[in-house]
Amino acid sequence: MSTLGTETVLSVHHWNDTLFSFRTTRDPGLRFENGQFVMIGLQEGDNKRLLRAYSIASPNYEDHLEFFSIKVPDGPLTSRLQHLKEGDTVVASRKPTGTLVLSDLLPGKHLYLLSTGTGLAPFLSVIQDPEAYERFDKIVLVHGVRYASELAYADFITRELPENEFFGEEVRDKLIYYPTVTREPFRTQGRITHLVESGQIFRDIGLPALDPAVDRAMICGSPAMLKDVQAMLDDRGFKASARIGVAGDYVIERAFVEK
Ligand code: A2P
Repeated sequence: MSTLGTETVLSVHHWNDTLFSFRTTRDPGLRFENGQFVMIGLQEGDNKRLLRAYSIASPNYEDHLEFFSIKVPDGPLTSRLQHLKEGDTVVASRKPTGTLVLSDLLPGKHLYLLSTGTGLAPFLSVIQDPEAYERFDKIVLVHGVRYASELAYADFITRELPENEFFGEEVRDKLIYYPTVTREPFRTQGRITHLVESGQIFRDIGLPALDPAVDRAMICGSPAMLKDVQAMLDDRGFKASARIGVAGDYVIERAFVEK
């Protein structure tokens, strides 16, 4: 099988001026682990393609693929991708990879999914993975954004997922969604790092402060966010997975598409 193929756009959803999601067909031969990414892009002339890494936001048992993207007005790829319409084609690699996989986390009690911006994408796949609910007592999904309008998928997470016919009960019992906004009033405000350091998040969700003996984490956001969150975990004695295939207390990946 060639590593690059084409997929057809099934639907597009615009969340606001800066964020959108799109669904495509899925090659039946594509296998992936929830949390992984593929290269997605557009054909530019006969031999040229413009590709960027995109986390797969849909779970690996669905027969479509979903992607969550920023729109950058002068970004080489997203300025064009944002105009995708149903029936258009995109180029898609068939070699999924990535570090944000459950198999690279040691056993634990609580799974913290720490994201900012489009860093939410891989965790949408993870929170739809029944294995996540088998392995952990609580799953805390933190999504940090500048403005409340960027809290994409909030309705899906809080309304649809708890009604899922196969694992809705586990979602109701175990999934804690914790959105936070930094640049306008909202029920929870401030950066993830601040909420952890002040202990606010633990008071709000009713769990003890971070402890490497029982807590596991996955981190996905901007390079600055990754650096600060990683330092915060390291300070508390957490050990990162050294590389794909080696389990650790936490795994980390840059939220990809910024252009
Ligand atoms: P802030 O508004 O204080 O910069 P961005 O769009 O820049 O990636 O930001 C998305 C969210 O991540 C914003 O809420 C932003 O907060 C927050 N953020 C940015 N840098 C960091 C960081 N170093 N640590 C934690 N959160 C961050």
